Amino acid sequence: MAELVVALDVSETRKLDELLEVLSGSPVWVKLGLEALSAFGYGAIGRAREKGFKVFADVKYHDIPNTVGSASRVVTRAGASMFNVHCSGGAAMCAAARKESEEEAAKLGMARPIVLGVTVLTSLGADDLGVMGFAGGAAETALKLASAGKSGGLDGVVCSVHEAASIKARLGENFLTLTPGIRPAGAGVQDQKRVATPAAAVKAGADFLVVGRPITGAPAPAAACRAILQEMTKS
Ligand code: C5P
Repeated sequence: MAELVVALDVSETRKLDELLEVLSGSPVWVKLGLEALSAFGYGAIGRAREKGFKVFADVKYHDIPNTVGSASRVVTRAGASMFNVHCSGGAAMCAAARKESEEEAAKLGMARPIVLGVTVLTSLGADDLGVMGFAGGAAETALKLASAGKSGGLDGVVCSVHEAASIKARLGENFLTLTPGIRPAGAGVQDQKRVATPAAAVKAGADFLVVGRPITGAPAPAAACRAILQEMTKS
């Protein structure tokens, strides 16, 4: 059963608290990414947990294994139930994230966080990838990076709905996929390019659907959230 993750891309305390309040009680995760974590620090993870949410910390770590391993301990201690690293940091870096978050969680007597890998940022085109030395385009590069992540022990990857089925076919049904770029039929796409509806994402086998502005920018965010959850369960 796919789960909904609401992206709280805000940097004003008032806005964060408002969204946590209005969404509290909804069976959703929240995602705190670079904007929110830069503005509020990792304390925001605890604030969201206090309101009853599981938190996906979209930290996108990318550094040497030792540094990423230590940071993974910090984000685990802060209370993230899921966080991510860039697969392009290599299998050893991914393994450090997995191992050290697991050790830290065991020390604290809590469940270990899910660790995901970012494959190819959806803002990168084939030309950008070529300059970086990735021949073969986005889909093939995403699969290669996802394989590197899997061999480092990651639980899954962040990818577009359009790649979710092929990643699962290659790396196994249990390898998780988290898909942003979700837009209910008729909603504005804003800056997203390759969008899919919640129903299409569920059909493609995505485990987590990330939705931001169609909920956070709606006149009634809780109602918008309910409508998406309904579409997901009907699919
Ligand atoms: O508002 P919207 O639904 O477009 O938000 C999508 C969220 O998913 C944002 O937080 C964005 O940073 C994130 N994301 C994305 N595309 C990726 C990776 C992350 O849209 N490839």
